[in-house]
Amino acid sequence: MDRGFRMLDRPACLRRLPSGMLATLLLCFICGVAAPCFASPVKGRQMLAATPPMGWNDWAQYQCGYTAQDILANAKGLVKTGLAAHGYNTVTIDDCWMQKDRDAQGNLQADPQRFPQGMKPVAQAIHAMGLKFGIYEDAGYETCDGLAGSGEPDGGGKDHFLQDTRLFASWGVDYLKLDGCKVYVPAGGTKADAYRKAYAAQSAALKAVNRPMVFSESAPAYFQGTPDWYDVLSWVRDYGQLWREGSDMANFHVKKPDDPRFHSVLWNYSYNLPLGRFQKPGNWNDADFIIGGADGMSLAETRTQLALWSMMSAPLILSSDVGRLSPQAVAILGNKAVLAIDQDALGKMATLVRRNQIMDVLFKKLSGGSYAIAVLNRGTSPIQLELHPADFGFAANAGCRLTAWNLWSGTDQPAASTLQANVASHDIAIWRVHAAPSCGTPTRTGAIIMVAAGRHRDMDNDTRCLAVSGSVEDCAGTSAEAWTITPSGALKSAGKCLVPANGKPSMQGCSARKDQRWKYTLLGNLVSADGECLTASGPDNQSQPLSIQTCGHNQSDQIWSLPN
Ligand code: GLA
Repeated sequence: MDRGFRMLDRPACLRRLPSGMLATLLLCFICGVAAPCFASPVKGRQMLAATPPMGWNDWAQYQCGYTAQDILANAKGLVKTGLAAHGYNTVTIDDCWMQKDRDAQGNLQADPQRFPQGMKPVAQAIHAMGLKFGIYEDAGYETCDGLAGSGEPDGGGKDHFLQDTRLFASWGVDYLKLDGCKVYVPAGGTKADAYRKAYAAQSAALKAVNRPMVFSESAPAYFQGTPDWYDVLSWVRDYGQLWREGSDMANFHVKKPDDPRFHSVLWNYSYNLPLGRFQKPGNWNDADFIIGGADGMSLAETRTQLALWSMMSAPLILSSDVGRLSPQAVAILGNKAVLAIDQDALGKMATLVRRNQIMDVLFKKLSGGSYAIAVLNRGTSPIQLELHPADFGFAANAGCRLTAWNLWSGTDQPAASTLQANVASHDIAIWRVHAAPSCGTPTRTGAIIMVAAGRHRDMDNDTRCLAVSGSVEDCAGTSAEAWTITPSGALKSAGKCLVPANGKPSMQGCSARKDQRWKYTLLGNLVSADGECLTASGPDNQSQPLSIQTCGHNQSDQIWSLPN
C-alpha cells in the first residue's frame, strides 16, 4: 500500500465518525479542499490545553544541578514577579529527580539528595502557591540521564507506564513530559513502531488513572531529520496535547555563562514554523523552552523569542532562574498584549509572508477578526520596511487601511494604507492589527516553503521557496515568492495559477478547472487532481525545477509548507 495516501484516503476526522452520515460527507468535502483535516475533540471530556501550555521547567537553566529548594524558589519567583498571574502557572521538574533503581515494589524513588522529604511535599507546596505541578519521565528503559525510565526494559519485558502514572496521580501531578531516550526496539521491529507503542501505552495509562494531566510527548524529536518524522508528527496528537519536534534549546552552562544562545532560538523557530498543519487548540507543536531573559540572551533577543513563540502559538515554558530575571526581562515576558497573541483561541501557526537572508515577515489570524503581524530582524544592522495590506492577502484597494497597535511600545498607528517597520538587530516588531471593512477577509497569502528533511543548517540556508518561475530556490523575499492559496485549492501568484500540465507544472490563467486544484495533505504533499505530487527535483543547493511525480512516502522533495 502506498502509505503516502493515508491522509487522503481516510483523514483523522473521518475515523471518528460512523460512515454514511451526512456530517461525514460534509467533513470529507471540507477536508478535501486544500486543508489538512483534524480530529475533533472528544465529546464529554474537557479539552486539556485548549491554549498553549505555559509555565516553568528547570532543565535549560540547571540540567541536573538542582534541588527541591531551587524548584520552590523558582515557583515563588513566578508568583512574586507576577509571571504566574500572567499564565506561567505550571512548574515542571525535569530529568534527574529519580533514582536509577526502583524500590522493591517497582516504584520510582525520588533522589534523596535533591528531595529529602520525597516528592509529595514539593507538589503540595507548588499547589499551595496556586500553581500546577509537572513531572518528567521517559518512554525508554532509562531517562536521557540514565535514570529509571517508564518504558520496557532493554531487551523487552513489562513497562511501568501505569504504575508510574498512578504514582504521579497520587502526588497530584498535573502535567507529564515523557521524553524519548533509550526506547527499546525489538529485533525485527521498527523504531517508529516502538515509539508509537510506548506513547500509546502512556496515553492509555493516563486515561486509566482518571486524573487530568497534560501530556507532553517528546517522540517526534527523536525522528527529526528522518522521513519518519512526519509519520510520528501525525500520530502524537492522538495521545497528547503537545509534542517536542526537535532539538533542544541551548542550555545555560555555569562555566560559560556568557555563551550566546540566540542561534538556538532561531533554529528551533525555523523547524517549528513549517509545521502549522499539525496544530490546533488542544494539540500544540512545542518549540522548546523560553530562554529569553536568561544568560546569553539580550533584551532584544528576549523580545524576539517571546514574539516568535507567540506568533506560532507555541507553549511558553520558561527555563531560567526566575529570581535573576531583570525587571526589563520580566516586563517583556509578562507583556499581556503579546501573551494574548500566543493564547489566542484560534491557535493558528503564523504564516511566513516573506523571508530573505536577514528578515522574516509573519502574519497570524486571531479570533474576533483581528490579526497579528511581526517583522523579525536576524541581521546585524537595523532594517526599515514598508508593508502593504496586499502582502497579507487583504484586498488591494485604496480604502483598505490597517490600524496597528505596537505591542512593545503600546502605541497605535492610526489607520493607514502602509505599515512602517523599523527593527533593530536581533529584535522584532509585533503589532495587533485591525483592518478596515473594505480590506475584506484576507486570503491565505505568503511563501510556499520546502524544508528538506535531514538538513541541519541554519535557516538562511535551510529554507527553500517556491518561485513563480516554476522552481524552488533559496528564499529571497521577492514578490515572485508570494502565493495565494485560493479557497478551491489553487496556487496563485502574480494573477496566474500553477497547473500540472503534462507532468511539468506551469503558470496559466486561473480558471475553475479541476486541474488547478491541489489537495494539501497532513504529511505535507500537494496532490494534483490526478493524484500525483508536486515535486522539486535535483540537488537542493541549486535551483530545483518543478515536476509532477508519483507521490512517495515522506519524500523530502514533495513536502511543502503553505500559508495557514
Ligand atoms: C532531552 C530533552 C530535554 C531534557 C533532557 C533531560 O534532551 O529534550 O528537554 O528533558 O532530555 O535529560
